[in-house]
Amino acid sequence: MKCTFIIHRFDPAVDEQGRYEEFIVDADPNDKILDCLNKIRWEQDPTLVYRSSCAHGICGSDAMVINGRVALACQKLIREYKTANNFVIEPLPLFNVIKDLIVDMNPFFEKHRYVRPYLISDEEAPEKERLQSAENQQIFEPALRCILCASCTAACPINRANDNYLGPAALLRSFRYIFDSRDTATGSRLAQVDNDNGAWGCKTMWWCTDVCPKGIPVTKCLGQIKRLIKEKEKG
Ligand code: SF4
Ligand code: FES
Repeated sequence: MKCTFIIHRFDPAVDEQGRYEEFIVDADPNDKILDCLNKIRWEQDPTLVYRSSCAHGICGSDAMVINGRVALACQKLIREYKTANNFVIEPLPLFNVIKDLIVDMNPFFEKHRYVRPYLISDEEAPEKERLQSAENQQIFEPALRCILCASCTAACPINRANDNYLGPAALLRSFRYIFDSRDTATGSRLAQVDNDNGAWGCKTMWWCTDVCPKGIPVTKCLGQIKRLIKEKEKG
């Protein structure tokens, strides 16, 4: 079937602002959106750029806006769309566009680094490994599925209104260590997110949960941080 792809283009060397370009692709209903972008690049315009790597929803590199909704291009099939013959493909909102569908992810990863995305322990290192109970692992297991695709952060309306808001992905990473019983920096981690740019910036709008390609209940996890802050306040 013939599909029309209207794709955001921007080349900083020649364009003052973004524009849209139309391509016709001979596609199968079972093709992924990423397959179609590849066809366009390989057969029609080698200058079209976008990120992708694994093509299987693992690396998180090909989040973009497909017909108005944030999604991974490698996880969406042509037949999943009611407008199966017409697609509008745009870069992730919120971030500056570098070229075509590629955005600057640096602000996203800066916030991720800010929450210290690693285990902190002031206990003596064991001989082999720091064991974790299955029960404790269950608590933050959903956060382990995060592939840092930034879909949640790009879709979050709070993030769009406040540049300083850490955003759902960074807060989810904070959640992952706050609830890890082996981590001993819980107090400073909670203090770091106990403000309007942290956990309290979340207004439970659920957009992050709605778009997450890994089915992570992001909003609920952020709610668990808020509850723990309140519990600690009560003593
Ligand atoms: S929580 Fe989901 S949407 Fe957000 S970065 Fe992780 S995988 Fe992507
Ligand atoms: S290409 Fe890796 S998640 Fe889509």
